[in-house]
Amino acid sequence: MYGKIMKFLDFIWSKFYLILQSKTNLMSLTKDYKISVQKCTKSNIDQVDFNNLVFGQVFSDHMFECDYKDGVWQNPTIRPYGPLSIYPSSKVFHYGQAVFEGMKAYKDDDGGVFLFRPIENLKRINKSSVRMAIPEFPEALFFDAMNQLLKLDSAWIKPGIGNSLYIRPFVIATQNGVSASPSTEYKFMIILSPAQAYYTGDVKVVIAESFSRAADGGVGFAKAAGNYGAQFYPTNLAKEKGFQQVIWTDANEHKYLEEAGTMNVFFRINDTLYTAPTNDRILDGVTRKSVIALAERAGVDVQVYRLTVDELIAAANNGSLKEIFGAGTAAVISPVSGFNYKNKTYDLPIADTTSYAARFKEELTNIQHNTSEDPFGWRYEVK
Ligand SMILES: Cc1ncc(COP(=O)(O)O)c(C=O)c1O
Repeated sequence: MYGKIMKFLDFIWSKFYLILQSKTNLMSLTKDYKISVQKCTKSNIDQVDFNNLVFGQVFSDHMFECDYKDGVWQNPTIRPYGPLSIYPSSKVFHYGQAVFEGMKAYKDDDGGVFLFRPIENLKRINKSSVRMAIPEFPEALFFDAMNQLLKLDSAWIKPGIGNSLYIRPFVIATQNGVSASPSTEYKFMIILSPAQAYYTGDVKVVIAESFSRAADGGVGFAKAAGNYGAQFYPTNLAKEKGFQQVIWTDANEHKYLEEAGTMNVFFRINDTLYTAPTNDRILDGVTRKSVIALAERAGVDVQVYRLTVDELIAAANNGSLKEIFGAGTAAVISPVSGFNYKNKTYDLPIADTTSYAARFKEELTNIQHNTSEDPFGWRYEVK
């Protein structure tokens, strides 16, 4: 009873704290909080083939932009999507001081527009910013900008399971100067890209034996731009060998399984679902924590556990390894059909509709598209 009361008080306090914090942020950080809106004269939507979209290639009509200068976020503006004019000496180009987020908007058959756990993305971009010495962005302004932008470009969100509008908020360091110190000026932006169901096809992965994505004390937990650029080379090597992604292992011993490409990773051994605990090397994925919640609700034994490569290989050899899948906003859930370690390839059973991957993907996408109940309160309606 006492525990329940404490939990309730904690919940009330956390809500009150968030409201208080957003108000304080606005007062102290934003000089002029009214978002100015410049609409495009002609939409580009007619030029887009929504049945043949390549992920992340086409952008909607408008974007949001807000500058940080003299210690305040200022001049929030929605304007037509287009090029930026920034100097070549801007610090982002030299020191990679940049963070980003990835989230999606969904439309139901009645035209309602929904986001999925957007507060998690705001909290995470601010966590990433703190690690990269970038000022945090105010919560109320983030939601106001998001709502206005999505309403303006709502025609770019097509209804139907699988269709979505990928949302890319990001922050770049814009101060001029090639001295290695944090920028005093930044640009926060949101751009939007229509997306279709993301079929990753047959995904086979290589388990990293020497390359690392992140190290203790580093920035792996942040969506810092450089984390991703650094993955391209080892991923290209994997592709040259016929594999699509790398499963990253810990940087110290290359013994523990951590992430799959740009996704969190799950392993099903018999009927138990394993995923690595988050730490300063691993991104605290929104899809990961949602899958854990759905699996626990379904009575699945979920172990947040540092599974080793040896344990995985033993399970593959004795037939108890049933599934591996990646979890992330872009693909939702992406089943892995095989993995390679020390030049030996291990094949997995073909994932069917009874697989955990298929079940949890369906449950998640139904919640996201407002075609099922939302028992966890994850949906956020854009109004
Ligand atoms: C490194 C990494 N891990 C995991 C994820 C999955 O996170 P989320 O489910 O929040 O998209 C992402 C994608 O954002 C990522 O970049």
